[in-house]
Amino acid sequence: METSVTFPGLPAIVPSARHFVRGILADSPRADDMELIAAELISNAICHSPAGEADGEFAVIIRTEPGWARIEVSDSGTGEWHPRPDDTRPDDEYGRGMAIIAALADKFGHDVTATGQTVWAEVGWPTVE
Ligand SMILES: Nc1ncnc2c1ncn2[C@@H]1O[C@H](COP(=O)(O)OP(=O)(O)OP(=O)(O)O)[C@@H](O)[C@H]1O
Ligand SMILES: [Mg+2]
Repeated sequence: METSVTFPGLPAIVPSARHFVRGILADSPRADDMELIAAELISNAICHSPAGEADGEFAVIIRTEPGWARIEVSDSGTGEWHPRPDDTRPDDEYGRGMAIIAALADKFGHDVTATGQTVWAEVGWPTVE
């Protein structure tokens, strides 16, 4: 199953976007993890990409199959990240979001195209046959 929604890039939209993710993945034992991952991906799109500028927007796509789910958050950013997540030092106040995603997700990545970028994360869970 695949569900896609485009949201305006306003900080106040984060709870709605999280709620959207939880609504789709409510039956998954990884719903809490995916909700946290979603919040970090979405706040990054709003804080660090053109999504957060006037009339900016970002898209959230959830793909899910039995035992597996993937979230993709896309914005029109160039894909150049300054700073990069691996520049974070232990006492920095910011730079935690991607580390949280790395800790919670089974796989995550960052794809760049001519028109924008997508940051994605996947989780899996055991299913009863
Ligand atoms: N969608 C994005 N567009 C542009 N840059 C991004 C995006 N996502 C992440 N980045 C870059 O990666 C850096 C690290 O992201 P991360 O979420 O780890 O930290 P942060 O957003 O700076 O702080 P925190 O999430 O702890 O509030 C960001 O500071 C930013 O430079
Ligand atoms: Mg962040």
